Amino acid sequence: MSSSAELLKHLSAPEIAERLATEPARMAQLAKLLLSGGEMQRAVDLANRARELAPDDPEVERIVKLVLSRSVPEWHRAILADEVRNAAYDAALRRAVRAGSRVLDIGAGSGLLAMMAARAGATTVVSCEMNRAMAGVAAEIVEHNGYADRISIVGKHSRQLAVGADLAEPADILVSEIVTNDLLGEDVLGCMEDAVGRLTRPDATIIPSHGAVRIALAYYGKLAKRQLASVQGFDLSPMNVFDGRIDLAAGNETLELRSEPADLFAFDFGSGGPFDNHRASVALTSSGGAVNGIVQWIWLRMDADGVYENRPSPGASSCWGVMFQPLPAPLEMRPGETLTVQGARDRTALWMWVA
Ligand SMILES: C[S@@+](CC[C@H](N)C(=O)[O-])C[C@H]1O[C@@H](n2cnc3c(N)ncnc32)[C@H](O)[C@@H]1O
Repeated sequence: MSSSAELLKHLSAPEIAERLATEPARMAQLAKLLLSGGEMQRAVDLANRARELAPDDPEVERIVKLVLSRSVPEWHRAILADEVRNAAYDAALRRAVRAGSRVLDIGAGSGLLAMMAARAGATTVVSCEMNRAMAGVAAEIVEHNGYADRISIVGKHSRQLAVGADLAEPADILVSEIVTNDLLGEDVLGCMEDAVGRLTRPDATIIPSHGAVRIALAYYGKLAKRQLASVQGFDLSPMNVFDGRIDLAAGNETLELRSEPADLFAFDFGSGGPFDNHRASVALTSSGGAVNGIVQWIWLRMDADGVYENRPSPGASSCWGVMFQPLPAPLEMRPGETLTVQGARDRTALWMWVA
């Protein structure tokens, strides 16, 4: 059995690595093939092994970098550049951590929050990361910054963690940043249902403690320009069916709120759920003027003293985008007039419409 296809079909990453121990370049090529087939974890394991075997081979290095960069989302850079987000987490951790605190960090990423917890004085931090490439780099960063004696990076999904194995004891503090533009997409609800109580003490501090999906009436000045019509003499307007949800930067200069915000869905993460599927209805009161859509963003209560919110406002800055959902047709609304928005969600997605 030696063709690439046969190796990939029949063997695990360590078995392939053993079989190709003298052929690191071929091993790197196989890692690339695995990545193209969507097998990210096996690809990363094989790429890392190829690099270990041939640290000075420039071609192996290029392929390994290609595999690693494709397996880690680009937004990691954006979240690390969001100083307001970082400061909100750092402040909440400094308020929560006591001498002797045991911290669980769900979703290590670069290891930033784990290192914040250790710097604030935590005795131990267990930081889990399901992305194999990211977990490897987080462990390197933690070591490089001198916290390897207190932080352990565990390359697992939080659901695979166990007290007595990965954590010596249930955690006193659970910190996580696994929220998306619509709050739910990274399964924060499912993870909190699983982790709170199973991996934490009953009186544990949960950071962030609460989260909400906020909405408001809005006017997006560039909506009409986005609508596709004639291109090179062809009518491409059916493409507009894909424009049901437009992701914008929180600081978009042409997006204006036309009502006070309201929470469509709100969650007490520390309760541990259950966060069963839910429907909601919210009446938004217009502040007057044209309205051509509903805008949605996220709100996080870090703890009793801290809040993070990416409320849209011209010039605002946030690593999280806001979601603009166009109305079927623009409305001219008087101040005080209301529009009712219906929403529904499951654990990882939400959708809304106007009654
Ligand atoms: C948005 S990043 C946050 C990274 C870092 N904590 C920070 O705040 O800079 C979320 C990371 O958590 C990981 N992740 C998400 N859910 C996870 C889970 N339940 N268990 C382990 N890792 C998870 C993702 O792979 C991603 O690297």
